[in-house]
Amino acid sequence: MNNLYFQNKKILITAGPTYEKLDPVRFIGNFSTGKMGFALAKTFAENGAEVVLIAGPTCLTIEHPNIQLIAVVSAIEMRDEALKFFSNSDIAVMSAAVADYRPKSFSESKIKKKEDELTIELVKNPDIFKTLGEQKSKHQILIGFALETNNELENARKKLADKNGDAIILNSLNDNGAGFKYDTNKISIILKNGLIFEYSLKTKNEVAQDILQCISDNF
Ligand code: CTP
Repeated sequence: MNNLYFQNKKILITAGPTYEKLDPVRFIGNFSTGKMGFALAKTFAENGAEVVLIAGPTCLTIEHPNIQLIAVVSAIEMRDEALKFFSNSDIAVMSAAVADYRPKSFSESKIKKKEDELTIELVKNPDIFKTLGEQKSKHQILIGFALETNNELENARKKLADKNGDAIILNSLNDNGAGFKYDTNKISIILKNGLIFEYSLKTKNEVAQDILQCISDNF
């Protein structure tokens, strides 16, 4: 695939999980591996785009002259980096599994085991997709993912509208072989104008190619 549409386009991608620290040795996180976001970064770069890849903690590495990798840990760090680069981006794809909440306080020393029950207070993290949606200008394309277990289409459409995106890529955890721990994924892409494109189970690299094709065909 060599899609001239992406030549010299500036792309912003968020990928991987975020870790929200509780104390020096513990965090709240999730099982995201970052594979989908890294596959997207590689595919955009191979098609001539300049990519900023903002990634939470992951084991993955990526080296390509067109990819600038920015490693972050928490949702707030990811939001701050995304805001630095967004105004200069043509396309932003939010593939990170951002932790929705973070511990209200961080303990400088390791939390010691005491009572039988421990309650941790959490506060809401910023929604990066929504924040960028509020700042988006007409020429920018903002795309998110929706990871759903039930009422998939309805929830994905609602996210797309609430966050002012141009398209949302639906991953259902009900599809075998789709989701965090797999090298494969099964997606549907829902555009702001209501059009829906459904794809079969494919490798994450192939899924990334479908996403680029869908962008160049529709925007
Ligand atoms: N997202 C984000 N910042 C957050 C939460 C989510 O940028 N704090 C983005 C994700 O990268 C994804 C989209 O929003 O592109 C949807 O994420 P998802 O986890 O499916 O949904 P939430 O908005 O977090 O809603 P819920 O967890 O209630 O389903």
